Amino acid sequence: MMSTITLGIHGGAGRLGRRITALALADPRFSLRAVVVRHGSDAMGQDVGLLAGAEPVGILAGADPETLIACDVVIDVSSPAAAASLAGLLAKGGAKALVTGTTGWTDAQDETLSRAANDMAILRSGNFSLGVTALVHQVQEAAARLGPDWGVHIHDIHHSAKKDTPSGTALMLADAVRAGWDHSVTPKCLAVGAPLEENPTRGEIIITAERKGQVVGTHDVTFYGAGETLCFTHTAQSRDIFAYGALQAAQWLAGKKARLYTMQEVMSPQD
Ligand SMILES: NC(=O)c1ccc[n+]([C@@H]2O[C@H](COP(=O)([O-])OP(=O)(O)OC[C@H]3O[C@@H](n4cnc5c(N)ncnc54)[C@H](OP(=O)(O)O)[C@@H]3O)[C@@H](O)[C@H]2O)c1
Repeated sequence: MMSTITLGIHGGAGRLGRRITALALADPRFSLRAVVVRHGSDAMGQDVGLLAGAEPVGILAGADPETLIACDVVIDVSSPAAAASLAGLLAKGGAKALVTGTTGWTDAQDETLSRAANDMAILRSGNFSLGVTALVHQVQEAAARLGPDWGVHIHDIHHSAKKDTPSGTALMLADAVRAGWDHSVTPKCLAVGAPLEENPTRGEIIITAERKGQVVGTHDVTFYGAGETLCFTHTAQSRDIFAYGALQAAQWLAGKKARLYTMQEVMSPQD
């Protein structure tokens, strides 16, 4: 029988971090060892079970990321600056594996993550949902079959507290289109709330975004051809789909060798 995976969570006071903590505490595959919150956060010193809306478990939220180094897998859902700095620290400290779901990375932060993946297994995904992972695959397949004679519109809708635009998922979907077309094109990203004035022309990718209320996340991808359209939609009804996917990814990544992995690999039929 597989032994329990020791788990650390970085960004444990956030909306997603609390749900990952709650699900991990109820999941026999994992033994939660450390939950790290931002230094100075009100959550520092609180019992992580209570923080996650569950029973107290005797583990207090800390602010020292070094406490995560000894865990089999660390899940990060914080901010891009904090996540990049964590990746560097974990790689230097000899940590084994990092799953990061943080979105909004700059090129320099991306580079820090890629460098850290020389020393440890890292899985990064802007969306841990199993449905979105399947959608990314389907969108790449559709783009490959239809070819760049079609144009693509991606629309992302999220709650009003979301910090980055477009969403990490919208960017992943644009990457899937480009990969399917096998052709590099920079998506045109319109400002939040800006409507799509004209349908995308052949070989064009346009991303629009809406921020409202408590929407967990909806993504529409529409392919425009001559006289026809093809639409895909994914709707997240609960943040728990991301927490569940993050734990699936953590279990899959435990024990893997150093390199960058994707959520597509977690769901690959070969694995
Ligand atoms: N991959 C996915 O499936 C998925 C799904 C949803 C969201 N996300 C992404 O995951 C990230 C978190 O999302 P969220 O909705 O949970 O946001 P959130 O509620 O703002 O949570 C982020 C948390 O990270 C904390 N943090 C910031 N700097 C830190 C540091 N140095 N050390 C430890 N914690 C730190 C923040 O603390 P303070 O509030 O005290 O600053 C906050 O508690 C975002 O990038 C979001 O886009 C990914």
